[in-house]
Amino acid sequence: MSSNNLDRSLLMDAVRVTEAAAIASWSEVGRGDEKAADQAAVDAMRTALNELNIDGVIVIGEGERDEAPMLYIGEKVGTGKGPRVDIALDPLEGTTLTAKAMANALAVMAWAPAGTMLNAPDTYMDKIACGPGYEDGIIDLDKSPADNVRALAKAKGVEPSDITVCVLDRPRHAEIIASLRSVGARVYLITDGDVAGVMNTADPDTGVDMYVGQGGAPEGVLACAALKCVGGQFQGRLVFRNADERARAARLGITDLDKKYTLHEMVRADAIFAATGVTKGALLDGVTLKDGFVHTHTLVMNSSTQTVREIRMKRAL
Ligand code: FBP
Repeated sequence: MSSNNLDRSLLMDAVRVTEAAAIASWSEVGRGDEKAADQAAVDAMRTALNELNIDGVIVIGEGERDEAPMLYIGEKVGTGKGPRVDIALDPLEGTTLTAKAMANALAVMAWAPAGTMLNAPDTYMDKIACGPGYEDGIIDLDKSPADNVRALAKAKGVEPSDITVCVLDRPRHAEIIASLRSVGARVYLITDGDVAGVMNTADPDTGVDMYVGQGGAPEGVLACAALKCVGGQFQGRLVFRNADERARAARLGITDLDKKYTLHEMVRADAIFAATGVTKGALLDGVTLKDGFVHTHTLVMNSSTQTVREIRMKRAL
């Protein structure tokens, strides 16, 4: 299949899918129930996907078949009549953010031609990312966070203290944060949502230059699909805490457990990425109800044309 076929048939479909998930999970914003919020998004996203004329396979989903009844890895979705696509999704990226009515919760999805996305297991991944405009290899997962800041500052023509780095606020990141601060970098801590954290690096309005730290591997693939559309660099390495996690990777056909993946190894062909805001954040407004209408704000991007569209939808309740 050519990437153009993928573009034409699937761009607005992606928007409809993430809009449906965002609207459904919005009813759970601030209600303190992460599971209910996630379930609402999953149900809506699955219904929306199954109405589409696609022959889709979930590559990044809610988990393995035995633990996720819906949108599990390997599940087939769509009518089976359209293009064959790999689907990476996170119906609700930021379940805690939603339950606590905090900023930056998103409904996210990406698609690419069948067989072109990394089948990442549901483990952690060490990640580093920066936005577009730098020489390839400017950041390196195997260098210290301080060295990466120095390299980025030099390339940008600024001091390390002018560099801002987004990091998930977790005790496991204490050393990374210390290394970043040792060269004077600003550390922009987020409580959750590292797909948006990585995407921030490609959006000059956020002021974020780099993302570093350990987050979910599935979120890594989604972030790569997004960066592929707007430019930028990403490296990731899977992190295994036990034999069960190594077995998960093996079941997905991963043989080199220490491999350092680049963006283009994680998403190997042109992709379409869509995200709809659930709660208002740096990238997108959240779902709102006004004057008898539900309003949504969606970002949809296409790597084959490097286009970014913002779509505002208004629908009568
Ligand atoms: P959920 O939406 O599944 O709660 O994930 C939110 C998230 O913050 C991701 O963005 C991130 O990759 C991961 O959790 C980090 O995991 P942990 O909370 O275990 O540090």
